[in-house]
Amino acid sequence: MKRLIFLILIVSGCSPSDQTDDDSTQKDLNEIMLELRVLHTNAGDAIKKSDFENASWLVEELDNTLNKAIKKFDSHRKLSGPFESFYTELLQEPIKKVRLSIEEQNAEEAIVNFRDLTSGCNACHKKHDIKKRAKFD
Ligand code: HEC
Repeated sequence: MKRLIFLILIVSGCSPSDQTDDDSTQKDLNEIMLELRVLHTNAGDAIKKSDFENASWLVEELDNTLNKAIKKFDSHRKLSGPFESFYTELLQEPIKKVRLSIEEQNAEEAIVNFRDLTSGCNACHKKHDIKKRAKFD
């Protein structure tokens, strides 16, 4: 029975010690990654459809979520350095360019730049031996 309760807590995304704490301080890297996946997929779909309005706020949400990871993960057992160093190296520039091409409503550039952003996600995964890949075809 104890084991079942424990499983339910895991599946619902909280461990017993989480319950009294602020959600934002308790999220682990994996949960943030799952959030990134949803935002990245939706932002990519919006860009493919030239839906610049939705693409714009989804990219801002993506960046906000990455910034949460920066604040939270100065170090993490699965990362070889602070999250911020990978963000700066791999994602900062592509995000800037995606933002600009969305502002300019340049569909072709937005696609090229979003592809670079996606490569940035995956470069970090490769560095850390994470098999999962962010996709944008
Ligand atoms: C700083 C390095 C880093 C960056 C940048 C990064 N990731 Fe990750 N990602 C990880 C690590 C580490 C894991 C494994 C987390 C774990 O298993 O606890 C992961 C896991 C994932 C997963 C798998 C989650 C699951 O359990 O199925 C997805 C999806 C993902 N990342 C999406 C993204 C997307 C999309 C981006 C870009 C917007 C991104 N990641 C950027 C390091 C990174």
